[in-house]
Amino acid sequence: PRTVARGADGALTVGGLDVRTLAAEFGTPVYVLDEEDLRSRCRDFRSAFSGDDVYYAGKAFLCRAVVRMINEEGLHLDVCTGGELAVALSAGMPPERIGFHGNNKSVTELARALDAGVGRIIVDSVDEIERLTALARDREVRPKVLVRVTVGVEAHTHEFIATAHEDQKFGFSLAGGSALAAALRIVDEDVLELRGLHSHIGSQIFDASGFEVSARRVLGLQAQIRDARSVELPELDLGGGFGIAYTTQDDPSTPQELAKRLHRIVEDECAALALRVPHLSIEPGRAIAGPAVFTLYQVGTVKDVDGLRTYVSVDGGMSDNIRTALYDASYSATVASRTSTTPPILARVVGKHCESGDIVVKDEFLPADVQPGDLLAVPGTGAYCRSMASNYNHVPRPGVIAVRDGVARVIVRRETEDDLLALDVG
Ligand code: LLP
Repeated sequence: PRTVARGADGALTVGGLDVRTLAAEFGTPVYVLDEEDLRSRCRDFRSAFSGDDVYYAGKAFLCRAVVRMINEEGLHLDVCTGGELAVALSAGMPPERIGFHGNNKSVTELARALDAGVGRIIVDSVDEIERLTALARDREVRPKVLVRVTVGVEAHTHEFIATAHEDQKFGFSLAGGSALAAALRIVDEDVLELRGLHSHIGSQIFDASGFEVSARRVLGLQAQIRDARSVELPELDLGGGFGIAYTTQDDPSTPQELAKRLHRIVEDECAALALRVPHLSIEPGRAIAGPAVFTLYQVGTVKDVDGLRTYVSVDGGMSDNIRTALYDASYSATVASRTSTTPPILARVVGKHCESGDIVVKDEFLPADVQPGDLLAVPGTGAYCRSMASNYNHVPRPGVIAVRDGVARVIVRRETEDDLLALDVG
């Protein structure tokens, strides 16, 4: 994060606060949010995409304090469950700046969204169109909707592969014709207002050409809709998925570079198809929250396994960061509580859970004198770590503290064993 530095005696500071003080006050493991970092990422996206709408994808990490931050910074918010919607509304997010996603929104969730007056609903199935039509008719409202289109661009980390088939659960298939059928059905349905098309091609994407192919394809569909019904849809959402640097090997695009490329391709393609340029929106989650947080752990044991490798065990693990085990994700780690002049050794940072796949950082050079009591910081844990945390092995989930200008405050409280026992009512 931006305000992280090494203090005079070598310990890390964030927002002007020493991590040793934070660990003493709030305990470990703990997620430390550099509020200025998150806010400046919001501002970077806002200024790069000025004139467009930037929806923060709340699935990356959502709590009331973050909703207030992104709201104050002028972002919109993408939620994909009733639970995320509840957090957003309870933190005062203006409903008209909320977009509601999901491939299986229940009748209850859709009703809540309509009653709250969310700005748009991104429809994902024929069942949903039917549900929404009935609910809107009952309530005599006319919700704004986007159609989520599966464009056949399969995005992977560092690359994308254009595929002919679209074998996944989200959206309506472009190639198969169901996207056009869904859009025309909504155009013909008085009670729903079709505002535009939506595509999201994946996550942690570095190669922006995937977004270009996807934009071209959805605009092609937009032209087909115009040709069939003489309507020009006023909006286009290109989704999120912008990659961040987890290690020094990753080289993400800046919001400015992304904005330039996306605008150019949309403008060129609209010119080629004689379409009016639609109002654009994007949905970054990871690129806003990911780099703003590091997890602060304490080392518990250091084990040299027969000269093969040094295992450094910390007081959390796969319950606070499942991404290494689930996606083979790469993270880095650094001793945060001091500096050391001992030569580095190749270490693996592991957790305290009862399985060997409980790895936080696969390979990292740590000082050879790394020892119990040291604090370790793992950066880039703001997205999909707390939001995907579990209570595996009855480990209470860590809290989140926000640090800014020398002040630290708890924004998500650490769970206690009593919290967990309270659910166990047998
Ligand atoms: N918009 C839609 C419709 C999405 O489905 C997603 C992510 C986003 C935006 C935000 O994507 P982002 O900018 O954060 O990459 N748990 C996985 C990531 C799953 C992403 C799901 N959808 C991970 O930890 O990598």
